[in-house]
Amino acid sequence: MKSKTAFFCTECGNETSKWAGKCPACGAWNTLAEQPRESRKGTASNHSNKTPVKATHITEIDTAEEIRFSTGMGELDRVLGGGAVKGSLVLVGGAPGIGKSTLLLQICQQLGKFAKVLYVSGEESTHQIKMRAQRLGVDSGNLLVLSETCLSDLIAGVEAEQPEILIVDSIQTLYNEELDSPAGGVGQVKDCTMALMQIAKGSGITVFVIGHVNKEGSIAGPKVLEHMVDCVLYFEGDQHISYRILRAAKNRFGATNEIGVFEMSDEGLKEVENPSEMLLSGRPQNAPGTCVTCVMEGARPILAEVQALIAPCSGNKPLRSSNGFDYGRAAMLLAVLEKRGHLKVSQCDAYLNIVGGLTLEEPAADLAAVVAIASSYLDKPVPGDLAAVGEIGLSGEVRSISHLEQRLLEIERLGFTKCIIPSRRAREIRPMAHLELLGVENIAQVLKILAQTV
Ligand code: TYD
Ligand code: MG
Repeated sequence: MKSKTAFFCTECGNETSKWAGKCPACGAWNTLAEQPRESRKGTASNHSNKTPVKATHITEIDTAEEIRFSTGMGELDRVLGGGAVKGSLVLVGGAPGIGKSTLLLQICQQLGKFAKVLYVSGEESTHQIKMRAQRLGVDSGNLLVLSETCLSDLIAGVEAEQPEILIVDSIQTLYNEELDSPAGGVGQVKDCTMALMQIAKGSGITVFVIGHVNKEGSIAGPKVLEHMVDCVLYFEGDQHISYRILRAAKNRFGATNEIGVFEMSDEGLKEVENPSEMLLSGRPQNAPGTCVTCVMEGARPILAEVQALIAPCSGNKPLRSSNGFDYGRAAMLLAVLEKRGHLKVSQCDAYLNIVGGLTLEEPAADLAAVVAIASSYLDKPVPGDLAAVGEIGLSGEVRSISHLEQRLLEIERLGFTKCIIPSRRAREIRPMAHLELLGVENIAQVLKILAQTV
């Protein structure tokens, strides 16, 4: 008898009956995923009883805005691009224990005000969900819960209840019994996601799916599903710090550069509307090796603290480590400081860290990193009211950046009185009431300011 399932290469689509580490057709490694044979075959063979395919004139396609609704969490709505889109599939990824279940259960209260919500959990019993809901103040009469891991039972539940919103916790616990592979494997998570996508597109149900990511991001998790779903949001942060950052890695209905900031409390997640204040809280006073900068996260300027520690080399080879800041960029800044600023950092151990779990991807943070590194190397504190924004070039020049005025307004709002900026822009910017602008052309001038101010 022919087996019900087969292995399909996710790269070239080749079908084989046995699993192998390497695809026999295209040679790609680890790309074979198990899928039901019938569903694949069905699409190709039964077109005789299907309605004929008809293409649509582009002029006849309705361009009316997609229907959006608010989740009741402004920070989540922002990351989704202005609320959730009806009939879309949103994947919420993150490390275990980061707060994914909490976030999605919490929004049920608001969603229940206008829609029927079905929360399916394969991780907790209905009793456990109820206990958590009580703690979060969720008691909507429109919220139904189901503890289930079997895909066909989940689909039966959706058909029976006809919810408008479906929440699945988590994709790794869901399984299709037609596949032999265990729940959580690549084949299973892909197959189950495909089925959830059909629910979303076929019935117009908005689906939120939770996906766990392990530390290396390597389990069959959100990464392998990114291309299939409409939105992928990652919930990040340190389990030991109460702040959480929600970031969009993919969004078919909006930009991916907005972030949402939350704080985990005893009553669940609270929105942080002023992330700058949060990220700067607990900043050490008069300690060398820290400098504040301002980065643009989407349309919102956010202040961030760059910390550096430059210490005498402890081994044979200098150690380098960078957390929240691009490693290659940090190495480049160290080299520029050595060559153009004449600081002997190349033989030192160097650590760079961005406080609060933020990841800085903009070159605008270069200048603050250079100030923090120089301050640590020289063991001279940076004044607490000084910030820095600007990009550094390979010849040590300080280059202009975008959104400078917006960043400076945020820096001023948080009580800073001085800011180092690219000199060319210093002349264009209108003088600011409480913020003195220190224009610099190159690294040498930055080091001079540092020497003078301390
Ligand atoms: P959870 O949402 O279960 O994480 P995930 O679904 O991503 O695995 O969050 C678990 C953590 O959050 C757990 O360590 C307890 C903590 N927590 C609070 O601090 N306050 C709360 O109100 C809740 C519900 C959880
Ligand atoms: Mg959970």
